Amino acid sequence: MSDKQINDPVYKTDALIAEDIDAYLDMHQNKGMLRFITCGSVDDGKSTLIGRLLYDSKMIFEDQLAALEADSKRVGTQGQEIDFALLVDGLAAEREQGITIDVAYRFFSTEKRKFIVADTPGHEQYTRNMVTGASTADLAVILIDGRKGILPQTKRHSYLAHLIGIRHIVLAVNKMDLVGYDRDIFDNIVRDYREFASEIGITDFTAIPISGFKGDNITVAPSDNTPWYEGPSLIDHLETVEIANVAAQARSFRMPVQWVNRPNLDFRGFSGLISDGEIAPGQQVRVVPSGKTSTVKSIVTMNGDLDRAVTGQSVTIRLEDEVDCSRGDVLAAADDPPESADQFESTLVWMSDEKLIPGRGYWLKLASQTVTATIAEPKYEVDVNTLDHLAAKTLDLNSIGVAEVTTDRPIVFEPYSDSRQLGSFILVDKITNATVAAGMIHFSLRRAQNVHWQPTSITRENHSAMKNQKPAVLWFTGLSGSGKSTIANLVEMRLARMNRHTFLLDGDNVRHGLNKDLGFTEADRIENIRRVGEVAKLMTDAGLIVITAFISPFRAEREMVRNMLPEGEFIEVHIDTPLSVAEERDVKGLYKKARRGDLKNFTGIDSPYEEPEKPEIRIDTTAMTPEEAADFIIGKLIP
Ligand code: ADX
Repeated sequence: MSDKQINDPVYKTDALIAEDIDAYLDMHQNKGMLRFITCGSVDDGKSTLIGRLLYDSKMIFEDQLAALEADSKRVGTQGQEIDFALLVDGLAAEREQGITIDVAYRFFSTEKRKFIVADTPGHEQYTRNMVTGASTADLAVILIDGRKGILPQTKRHSYLAHLIGIRHIVLAVNKMDLVGYDRDIFDNIVRDYREFASEIGITDFTAIPISGFKGDNITVAPSDNTPWYEGPSLIDHLETVEIANVAAQARSFRMPVQWVNRPNLDFRGFSGLISDGEIAPGQQVRVVPSGKTSTVKSIVTMNGDLDRAVTGQSVTIRLEDEVDCSRGDVLAAADDPPESADQFESTLVWMSDEKLIPGRGYWLKLASQTVTATIAEPKYEVDVNTLDHLAAKTLDLNSIGVAEVTTDRPIVFEPYSDSRQLGSFILVDKITNATVAAGMIHFSLRRAQNVHWQPTSITRENHSAMKNQKPAVLWFTGLSGSGKSTIANLVEMRLARMNRHTFLLDGDNVRHGLNKDLGFTEADRIENIRRVGEVAKLMTDAGLIVITAFISPFRAEREMVRNMLPEGEFIEVHIDTPLSVAEERDVKGLYKKARRGDLKNFTGIDSPYEEPEKPEIRIDTTAMTPEEAADFIIGKLIP
């Protein structure tokens, strides 16, 4: 076999894959179809093996794909495109979002089955690539070089495959020709692997001694060189292994609604891909999370109405009743709907050069739902080579960890172990729009379910829980012209970026409205601060993080506000700028006026400023820029 033959066959890039797979699935209704991933490096003989599989199967879909694409036109899509990418693959979103993932998909078929192989070449960024390729795979071929046996990468690949939910593992012990087709070598490798596999929960795997180069046990087994081998050939196994959809099929019905199909006033249907179970006209369904129920009137496809639709099919479901249901909702079996919650524990695979920032708001996309999510500091990171749990403050490229995820509203989901479709999500950076992580949900956190709303008694705790934040008052104090407003504004921008709900009360602004009746006498300043303190307190009751920028020259009033608030919620920030510096800046020209005697009771000139004795945060503005000051403050708040 030449290099060309090995590398040539139907090579598809990521950009084409979604539509191809979709068309492919439609044609074959997912029957007799196996998606698998190959794990191993070039050294293990991976390319040779893939080339061999394609070459030996002889039936390669080459020009047929274009024809299939033409068939994939939908019923009534007028003006509204189905998001093919998301229907097929939760990870597909990153394609529009600029991450290049090095996964090649190849299509081939034999008499018995069609195959899609996701091949993730290269050692670099193995986790990201592998997770992408494996996200929809049913089976993983873990390649081992018979001369080398189990390597750290074998363990890593096995762990990842298992983590991603692949339940069929083939241990392909390759290069048997180079070890004299020695049975003992094969048996030892299998024994070692079994020991390791059971540690990570892999209970079953199929080991096959092969030579990708010579073709042993690829299509026919046993080969003349391995008379001692009693199992199937690789292709036999791939053709006959029971595929994962069988399990999904047995589950209760779920279909994330991709879009509402309403071409005219007489037709309204909900379109999507059935992720689990099956459905038939006459059956009861429930719209989650709203909980409304109705009965399936008909199941519409481009090939006419169906008596029954199953996992993996894209359909449009019409209901008997006019129930509210939109993109992001899930249609589910009425008697066994999935959960919805806004807090859950999850495994995260970090896929971006930008590390995880706990507390920052990311887009979370799960099935057809998009919400804002914040991630807590990881509980731990997994060392993929040793599988040890390590303490971690963040996650960076290719690292895997477990963390709590909080969404800004409840989402419909299922544990990943139950449903790969409803249990996995991606995180997208709100600024760059890049996919930064893939996640797998373990379970919802009970505290998320224990929040019950009493419409007549919504407490400050409720408000704060709804905003997913602890309220606080960041009380900036300092001379006029010290930089309070500038820094406060930068701090608020940073908090907003972290998806915190804030409000900035600024001296000059409040004096235009609420306190426009007040001047700068001692009494007026005290009243000024008292009112502002009350307003800030009310805002914390509403769950907000309040930032105030007032000279607030007197210790007593600052202490008064501190005492109005629960312990720890008042954070005094002294913007410490020497009078000489503030006066030199004199942004508003007020110091000059005051020096001339045109402005009475000016702080620092003829009215005192009492420095905080023990502020929570002190900023020396002569030593840092406003940006640095803002970062410093954020760092203190969110260590
Ligand atoms: S505070 O002392 O009562 O807290 P506040 O922060 O509300 O003062 O308002 C201060 C702002 O009012 C200053 O930044 C300045 O622009 C303006 N101002 C006008 N007159 C005075 C004054 N006599 N002393 C201080 N600031 C003044």
